[in-house]
Amino acid sequence: MWTATAAAVGAAAYGLTRPGVRATLREDLDTVRRRDPAATNDLISMVSYPGLHAIWAHRGLHRLWQHDSAKVPARLLSQAVRTLTGVEIHPGARIGRRFFIDHANGVVIGETAEIGDDVMLYHQVTLGGTSMAQTKRHPTIGNNVLVGSGAKILGPVVVGDNSAVGANAVVVKDVPADSSAVGIPATVRPKKSARAAAKTELPDSLTRTVDAPAMTKHPEFELVDPAIWI
Ligand SMILES: CC(C)(COP(=O)(O)OP(=O)(O)OC[C@H]1O[C@@H](n2cnc3c(N)ncnc32)[C@H](O)[C@@H]1OP(=O)(O)O)[C@@H](O)C(=O)NCCC(=O)NCCS
Repeated sequence: MWTATAAAVGAAAYGLTRPGVRATLREDLDTVRRRDPAATNDLISMVSYPGLHAIWAHRGLHRLWQHDSAKVPARLLSQAVRTLTGVEIHPGARIGRRFFIDHANGVVIGETAEIGDDVMLYHQVTLGGTSMAQTKRHPTIGNNVLVGSGAKILGPVVVGDNSAVGANAVVVKDVPADSSAVGIPATVRPKKSARAAAKTELPDSLTRTVDAPAMTKHPEFELVDPAIWI
């Protein structure tokens, strides 16, 4: 109910009559379906996903932010949206298409953050600053990036396209494209999918098959009833 009100604020500011707005809403709903297997009904998604409401509100507020005279109302409304959705997106942040925040709560996105297309954040993510200077001080996130729950990406760092930031990671340095960043401070390694692709690209002469080691049976750890392990 409250988050739907926030969405309405954004949608009104964005201007429902603008050409392309309905197509954008459709795209956002399709994104929810693609990103969340639990989302099977657009109507339910429209009224019950605070992440969606926060994004819709942000689109309107970002447009307001472009006008000097509207900066104060934009800021105040974004704080209202934060109260309603649990997602704080500064109206100055630049966000691309098909952005999705799953389980939206406790998300903070700073003023000079830039986010590409097809980016997904989970709850408790911070795209924050480390400096008080009024310069670019928040992260730049490339296209098709996943940021796991609780991750903090701090400062004007760049996370490259197709990368992933692990749950609870703290990223304070650039992350190259096609990488995973995990841990505190985050260490970077090629993403699993990139590693797999690199393996399949090896010429036949360089590939070899390694037999999986035979499983050693330890009777004391034998799984009799899975329920006893829960
Ligand atoms: C990082 C992540 C995206 C996986 O990326 P990946 O490239 O497929 O990485 P892998 O699964 O191959 O793991 C690579 C290594 O990082 C480790 N790792 C994976 N995720 C980690 C995390 N969040 N924190 C610390 N280490 C992590 C793995 O154990 C593995 O370590 P190893 O090389 O020593 O065996 C994923 O683990 C993750 O954190 N996703 C976020 C999911 C989430 O927030 N879900 C919330 C649902 S409500």
